[in-house]
Amino acid sequence: MKTFEIKQFGIDSITTGERPVPAPGPREALIRIRAVSLNFRDLSVVKGFYNPNQTFPLIPVSDGVGEVVALGENTSRVEVGDRVSPTYAHKWIAGAPDRTTLYSTIGSPTDGLLAEYAVVHEDALVLVPEHLTDEEAATLPCAGVTAWHAVVAEGKVGAGDTVVVQGTGSVSLFALQFAKIHGAKVIVTSGSDEKLTKAKMLGADFGINYNTNPDWEKAVLEYTKGLGADHVIDVCGARTINQSVAAVRIGGRVSVIGILTGMVAEGFNILPIMLKKPTIQGINGGSREMFETMNRAIDANKLQPVIDRVFPFEQSIEAFRYMDKGNRFGKVSIKL
Ligand SMILES: NC(=O)c1ccc[n+]([C@@H]2O[C@H](COP(=O)([O-])OP(=O)(O)OC[C@H]3O[C@@H](n4cnc5c(N)ncnc54)[C@H](OP(=O)(O)O)[C@@H]3O)[C@@H](O)[C@H]2O)c1
Repeated sequence: MKTFEIKQFGIDSITTGERPVPAPGPREALIRIRAVSLNFRDLSVVKGFYNPNQTFPLIPVSDGVGEVVALGENTSRVEVGDRVSPTYAHKWIAGAPDRTTLYSTIGSPTDGLLAEYAVVHEDALVLVPEHLTDEEAATLPCAGVTAWHAVVAEGKVGAGDTVVVQGTGSVSLFALQFAKIHGAKVIVTSGSDEKLTKAKMLGADFGINYNTNPDWEKAVLEYTKGLGADHVIDVCGARTINQSVAAVRIGGRVSVIGILTGMVAEGFNILPIMLKKPTIQGINGGSREMFETMNRAIDANKLQPVIDRVFPFEQSIEAFRYMDKGNRFGKVSIKL
């Protein structure tokens, strides 16, 4: 089978490879991959920031969708012909994760899905919503489930809540869509007025350009009549965490999800955390149970993930370069 692999770090080090089609063992399924989708994480894995101890060769990319084409012995959760997605953290089925389940992620440290076939344990497979195309369904395992985990599973968003999402990246657009189907008001920040307009077409109620309005937390307080938002989805990390805490209401919630502006927050202000008593929740992927619940909601609401661009499999390296350039609105998928 054809693969894309890295044997050292760097986008320019991604090469095509050939491996034998793997055979499914007991309780495993052979999946013919139909589409994958790229995350910020996949880029970080390839560049060597995500896991400097990564061993090689590695087939990158955690998120994808495919068709079950063969079953190992005693496999009963899926059937040949099912359209399925592997979960991002293969061993995290339900409940709180432990060290083993949380780090059982594919695309690093173990091989991912940028290949024609993959063998996956049946416990790590979910059926995908029927109305989605392959390239849409491929966007769900990491970005979708992470947003669902933050906004719904832990965040318990309610009708009339105000949720702030930072930027219009993958996680944030899913968070926007999930908050809206639960009846929340959504404030989106973005560096681009054009993207804010697109976010409003997806249902956002209010947009703040963080370039022309760098004190965006003040605009959130103004919009919420001085109370603050119920929940801030922080994907930026170091440079925004103080603003996220400033923007949240007393007793509200900040989901700490990403590190787009860095990991170490110098000048992190502890006082407002003491005074406002927000829940600061770390979010790291999600369980299969969350994935399945999210898929039911996506199906019931006929939600459509936002796709920026689809590349053919042969142009996978160009897809990574395109990701690296930034300035997207929605996901980058690769169709096999
Ligand atoms: N914890 C987890 O399980 C988990 C899962 C998935 C992702 N993540 C992390 O979450 C972060 C986002 O991932 P992603 O896949 O959504 O990334 P992405 O799709 O690459 O999103 C990038 C977007 O973030 C926005 N942005 C960048 N700097 C910003 C700033 N200073 N203020 C506000 N928005 C800013 C920009 O939006 P505009 O262009 O609109 O300005 C940019 O387009 C990454 O750090 C990723 O590693 C974590």
